[in-house]
Amino acid sequence: MGECWKIVGGRPLFGRVRVPAAKNSVLPLMAASLMCQGESQFSSVPDLLDVRTSMEIYQTLGGQCSYQSGRLRLSFRQKEGRGCMPRHLAGAMRSSVFYLAPALHRFGRVETIQPGGCNLGPRPIDIHLDGLVQMGAQMEWQQDVLVLTAPRGLRGTEFVLRLPSVGATETLMMAAAKAKGETILRGVAREPEVVDLAQYLNQCGANIEGAGSSVLKIRGVSELTGCSYQPIPDRITATTLAATVASAGGHVTLEQCPAYLMEPALNVLQQAGCGIKVREDCIQVERVGTLKGVGRLYTGVYPGFPTDAAPVIAAALLTAKGQSAIEDTIFEQRFSACAREFAKMGANVQCEGRVIQMQGVPELRGATMTAADLRGGAALVVAALASKEESCIDGLGHIRRGYKDLPGILQALGAKIQLQQLPDEEAVG
Ligand code: EPZ
Repeated sequence: MGECWKIVGGRPLFGRVRVPAAKNSVLPLMAASLMCQGESQFSSVPDLLDVRTSMEIYQTLGGQCSYQSGRLRLSFRQKEGRGCMPRHLAGAMRSSVFYLAPALHRFGRVETIQPGGCNLGPRPIDIHLDGLVQMGAQMEWQQDVLVLTAPRGLRGTEFVLRLPSVGATETLMMAAAKAKGETILRGVAREPEVVDLAQYLNQCGANIEGAGSSVLKIRGVSELTGCSYQPIPDRITATTLAATVASAGGHVTLEQCPAYLMEPALNVLQQAGCGIKVREDCIQVERVGTLKGVGRLYTGVYPGFPTDAAPVIAAALLTAKGQSAIEDTIFEQRFSACAREFAKMGANVQCEGRVIQMQGVPELRGATMTAADLRGGAALVVAALASKEESCIDGLGHIRRGYKDLPGILQALGAKIQLQQLPDEEAVG
């Protein structure tokens, strides 16, 4: 039996929302805890499909984990293991890749397949693998199974990333944290989630300098000890909620989310005509009246406008008076799926390659739409909140990978959104 969210928008949103810990911080942190002796605890962790998948990987590798009202506890007592990641888990999300380095340190070997995740265009893992090989790992593809071994452990090296990949930076930081000797990583990603991982590892006893800059200097240590850690808030969830206000109208306060995490997206919303007030780690977002187009925007690596925010901001601009366009410089197919669905609502939208172009329309029709990836799926919810008619969104599994109970959060803010069962013939995954 499939299910969908029925949404009747055109109702302004009012209230306060506490922003949960960042999915893209929690997932690498979980993998990194595999390298530690003793228990690690992470707090304010949202109950996401990807967190559950990562818990299954952790347990399959031999670890113990428990999750109770936002607190995630992970520990690993088993000595040996073969580091085999089941293909259905490795293929379920991109974040399975974060287990490569920790498993190599713990078992001396790891087996996986090409990681899954949102279809945003080609997403190779060559930078992860090139760095691990240069640190002494041996790599072999057995058909579609990747086997990495490092019987004598990993050794420090100097490595230049050919592009500032967030995931590859995190993989190589974890690899270097327990490698023999010193590692210098140049051209690394500077995202807040990268800094968060470095702070956690240093709290566990690692020696990582330069997080947040483009060069990491890491002195390997022989042992890491688990600890309790509060991951940073989810800047993309916060941006998504801000986009719902921009789309539906109203006034919402985002709690426990410092503005530095989402400045570029807040600037775009302000340029479009939203009222933004920052108070310590609360952000007030207000939209009264009609938004205006913002011209051409470009996504970029941090501290630029984040690629993950692009679909939900685009959705909020579908009814903004005038022209807007967003070019995603990170992924080749960020907009193709959601643009098709926006058009079903009568949006004036074109998607050519990396660029989505919008000419605002005064009204959006209700439509039946299907989520095809995480952020594009959330963007359909944002768009549906602008229409006074009823919309139906299925493909909810994609959205649940990265948002905990989006309907519950939006209902509490005054949105009309209900979960409905779909007859089998209508259901999409
Ligand atoms: C992380 O993905 C995030 N996921 C993504 O969020 C985010 O969109 C992305 O960083 C960019 O900020 C997690 O942290 C779990 P990349 P990641 O490696 O690490 C190319 C979401 O919605 N590349 O920075 O996979 C790649 O093809 C997700 O929460 C290589 O060519 O992103 C892409 O074009 C979606 N070789 C670009 O780099 C590599 O070895 C950026 O990818 C690695 C990446």
